[in-house]
Amino acid sequence: MYKIIKTTITAIPFVSVIILEIFVNVRNYNIEMLQPFTLIIGVVLLLNLIIASLLKVNDYFTYGISVVALLGITSVFLIPSVGQVYLENIIAGLYFGLFVVAFFPPLFKFKPFTVSISEKEYSEAVVKTKQFLKINLLINYIWAGLLALSMLLTIVKYSDNSVLQIILSIVVPIILLVSIGVPVTKKLPTILMNKISGEQRHFETCKDLFESMPYGLNKELAQGVDAVIQYLLTGEEPIEGYLIIKDSKCLFEYGIHPNPNTTIKADSKLWLGISNNEISESKAFINKEYEVEGDMTLLLKLYDLFTPTQKEKKPKVEMEKPKLKKIDIDYKDFGPGKIRKIIVFDGGSRNDKFSKTSFMVNNFIEGAKEAGANVKYFKLKDYDIHDCSGCYTCWTKTPGECTYKDDMTLLRKKFREADLVVFASPLFIFNVTGILKRFMDRLCPILKPYIVHDERGFIKHPDRYPELGKQGFVVFSAAGFPDLENNFDGLRGMFKMWDLRNENMDMVGEFYVTAAETLVQPVGSIRKNMIQSVCKKAGEQVVREGKIDIELMQKVVYPGFSSEQFQEVSNYFWESLDGKAAYLREAPRI
Ligand SMILES: Cc1cc2nc3c(=O)[nH]c(=O)nc-3n(C[C@H](O)[C@H](O)[C@H](O)COP(=O)(O)O)c2cc1C
Repeated sequence: MYKIIKTTITAIPFVSVIILEIFVNVRNYNIEMLQPFTLIIGVVLLLNLIIASLLKVNDYFTYGISVVALLGITSVFLIPSVGQVYLENIIAGLYFGLFVVAFFPPLFKFKPFTVSISEKEYSEAVVKTKQFLKINLLINYIWAGLLALSMLLTIVKYSDNSVLQIILSIVVPIILLVSIGVPVTKKLPTILMNKISGEQRHFETCKDLFESMPYGLNKELAQGVDAVIQYLLTGEEPIEGYLIIKDSKCLFEYGIHPNPNTTIKADSKLWLGISNNEISESKAFINKEYEVEGDMTLLLKLYDLFTPTQKEKKPKVEMEKPKLKKIDIDYKDFGPGKIRKIIVFDGGSRNDKFSKTSFMVNNFIEGAKEAGANVKYFKLKDYDIHDCSGCYTCWTKTPGECTYKDDMTLLRKKFREADLVVFASPLFIFNVTGILKRFMDRLCPILKPYIVHDERGFIKHPDRYPELGKQGFVVFSAAGFPDLENNFDGLRGMFKMWDLRNENMDMVGEFYVTAAETLVQPVGSIRKNMIQSVCKKAGEQVVREGKIDIELMQKVVYPGFSSEQFQEVSNYFWESLDGKAAYLREAPRI
């Protein structure tokens, strides 16, 4: 009911002014004849104004149009010459009234009239921002300009026909206002809210937070992101809702999405604190104060996605998505049925429970066994392997036999008999561990001393046992740092030489896990599962097909986050070990 009354109160000034215009122009009365009619219109407008103020219908338009019309009507009685001008320009007066209410109030710190229209479309948190007010001020002055233009357009002489003149003088400005003013009011706030970077918003409630998120998306960073994030908040402000980020746009809906990429389960107060930057997200995450299911990497991206790009960027170490280039090696394809016997040499210093390298290798072995291979695994640190002394006795006095009679005698034999050798090592100082290197040095006896050139011009030592045929090899390594280049180069370079300068050894594949220590943190759990299945698949494939797809090798490399996120997650991890950042404390002098 109140709505109907309000609409009527707002409509009365418009309708009255148009009726007056029609009356004056169509009937062409002189000013005296018009006085009784204008008096009636004036009384109607005055009563309407009184009712509006009693019912607190504080609509700028009602007041603007009514005040200008009442002034005009009063002048008809008191100053007829001015009244005559008013009656000849009633519609222009209407636009003048509208112009006044658009132009002047903001100059006196009143809210622009557009706020009362656009605030219905946005959440409280958005409406409260300075950006929103600034945008409305802009729209307000666009309207003021359009209304001034409309006022001029009503004065233009369109036709000698009075009916046509009225229609055109009303219709032309309306077309202008509808075609420019309405879309500007509707679309501009969203466009600008998405564009403007700047003030960090503070949210009072989670409802405000979520409803504002669509306007806070950093479009630059959101390019290519196609994700659904489900929020399940409990506690003071329970909320079930989800964000859809797609095509650099963001939408928030209440309810449960059937297929979200990531689900965040948190206490509403905690989530609000995190979103307002009052609580460290990484710390809360590591301390398991909230739960995340699905794609964790999306969670790490979330903060950036809703942070405006800073004009003055702090120097950022951008990490390119590492790409496994072929380093001039054509991974060997042995063909189906050729890889039956596999031998694994794990040069890691940790046991299976902690070693990420062993984690990969164990899954590779599982896949290979399932495909029917005979697999033997050796943890080299458990074997007696002496350093090579460089005496060349294995090449001279006792060909093929080393002076040291340790476990290498057996391991070397196993090595040469296998169809596929797996070299596994954590990345230690940009290369394999000393354990694996010592083992590899002691493989010298399986080569002959003299020099040959191969067809590509490489100088090498011939294989002592060519009758045992060609062997494939696969490399597995896990590193702490998140990058491939400038980290694995040394290790890869060595195995590249192993491939190129060993007569009968060909690389079949290489698997490098970057940021390996994050695999055991909650943030890495999805990636860990992925690596598990990729390595298993590789084991199966190498036995069934005699080759490994580069796509599988490629999958394990990328950690899924930037180097800055890696830094943050890692440092919180170290800090969380004793909670007091002991890792930052000074050590006693050595
Ligand atoms: C002595 C030492 C040297 C290391 N050198 C590197 C390195 O050069 N680059 C790197 O990314 N990580 C390096 N790390 C980190 C390890 O590669 C990382 O902890 C990896 O997960 C170990 O593999 P594992 O889990 O199979 O033992 C080093 C670690 C140690 C203990």
